[in-house]
Order: sequence, then structure tokens, then C-alpha cells
Amino acid sequence: MQLFENITKMQEWAREQKKQGQSIALVPTMGYLHEGHLALVKEARRQCDKVVVSIFVNPIQFGAGEDFEQYPRDLEQDSALLEKERVDALFSPGIRDMYPGSFQTFVEAYGEITEKMCGASRPGHFKGVTTVVSKLFNICQPDRAYFGQKDAQQLMIVEKMVRELNFPLEIIRVPIVREKDGLAMSSRNVYLSPEERAEALVLYRALKMAEEEIKNGEREIGIIRQKMEEMIEACPRAAIDYIAINNANDLSELQTCTGKVLIALAVKFGKTRLIDNLIVEV
Ligand code: PAF
Repeated sequence: MQLFENITKMQEWAREQKKQGQSIALVPTMGYLHEGHLALVKEARRQCDKVVVSIFVNPIQFGAGEDFEQYPRDLEQDSALLEKERVDALFSPGIRDMYPGSFQTFVEAYGEITEKMCGASRPGHFKGVTTVVSKLFNICQPDRAYFGQKDAQQLMIVEKMVRELNFPLEIIRVPIVREKDGLAMSSRNVYLSPEERAEALVLYRALKMAEEEIKNGEREIGIIRQKMEEMIEACPRAAIDYIAINNANDLSELQTCTGKVLIALAVKFGKTRLIDNLIVEV
């Protein structure tokens, strides 16, 4: 596996692969890799000739008071994991290379899809994501880019951006990978104390309960949300950021649970904010 820290070198390598007729997969990450990331890498490996993984903790997608400084980092361990997965190139640029002092150009998506859920709780977050993802696409020139369904809103915004700005690539959705007990894999899980870790199972339990309610015929969004709230609020360490039940195609509001429904939530345990979601087809 080749390591690229330099943007121009990464771009030259990608250009050379394209010249030789090789398809390129990009798996954008912020590192501290877990099985969820590796599922993206495995899918990329299966579908493309060359696999590039980027590791960059993107400062502009973190708000003031969020966990940019504390975000876990371990490039050595990540490299070893990626070698095992037969990744061709690891792109790990420096912050000043990605955002020189003069940097003033951003890519921003607007509308309902960005305004609710994480967009409401983390102002500026998605502008940071769409900007860095656009840069990564221009640098690594992928034919396909792989994103996890755990960040459902991010995935939908990136898909919309790719469509609307005509990026010549395909976005591949990869299902959520969970621990055996149901907790969605996340680099942030390492922040949890044992007590918080135990209580964090309530996210998936609440989602499954909502799914069950819908399958049993409940269609009232208010009732489902209230039941989820009650279940989560019974955990003393949990603080709900949001519970959202929306159209899974575009995050538009639903009158009742019909069609493809995205149930998503964000819950804080101490300083750790976890997200999870599930799609139900009614
Ligand atoms: O999902 C992530 O890890 C990040 O938001 C991404 C897509 C790598 C952009 O920094």
C-alpha cells in the first residue's frame, strides 16, 4: 500500500491509474478504523480495481466545543488494518495542505435535507462535509465512493451533491455494521464509560421498538416518537438530541408512517453524541 500525504502526488497517482484503464474506489474516513469502515473497504475492494482510503480528521466539519481535538487517531494501527484489506493507496493529508491560510471556497447544500436532524444540532457541519468530500473527489478521482448508512443524512446530502454538481462518480451505500449486542460501530464509542456503553444499547432498542410498532400497524408519528422518548428517557445517562421520522428518500416531513420511512436519532451520553437509524418500508 502506498501512503500519500501530498495532494499533488495523490492526484498524479490517480490520474495514472485512470490512464491505465483502472477503476478507482474511494473510501473517505476520519480514521480510527473499525469493522464499519472495513465493510466499506471490502465492498470497494470487491467492486473496483484500485482502492484508495482517505484518513483526514476534517476540522471544518466540527463546531466550536465539539470533539475535534479529542477525536481518536491511530494512523499506524489504521495502516496495518488497510494493508490486510489489500488497499492500494492511503491518502492522509495535513490540515494546512487541505486548508491553507488563504482557503475561502466552500461547497454547501441547502434545503430541508440539510436543515433538520444533525443539520439543526450541528450548524455548519454538513458544509464542512460537502466541502471536504468535494476536495477528496477532485484529488482521488474515484469512479465510486463508499459511504455508510449509519450517517444517513450525510449520505443523502452527498448523493444529492453528486447529482446536482455532476460529479462523474457513483455513491455506494453500505449497511450499518453493529456490535453483537446491537450498538452501531462508531469511532466515538471509545469515549463511552462502561455504564454509558451499557445504556447506549437503548438507541437500537428504541429503533427496533419503533419498527415493531409500525409493523404492527401504528402509523402515528407522534405516538411512535413518544414511545421512543419514554424508552430512552428511562436511561439516566441518556439525553436525547433528536428523534426524527421522515421520508427516507429526501427527509421530507411525513403526515403518517407510509412508504419508505427513515427513523433516526441522536442521543448524548455525557459528552459523547451517538447517532443511529433504521429504514422501514410500509
Ligand atoms: O463520515 C465521515 O467519517 C466523514 O464525515 C467524512 C465523510 C470522511 C468526511 O470528513
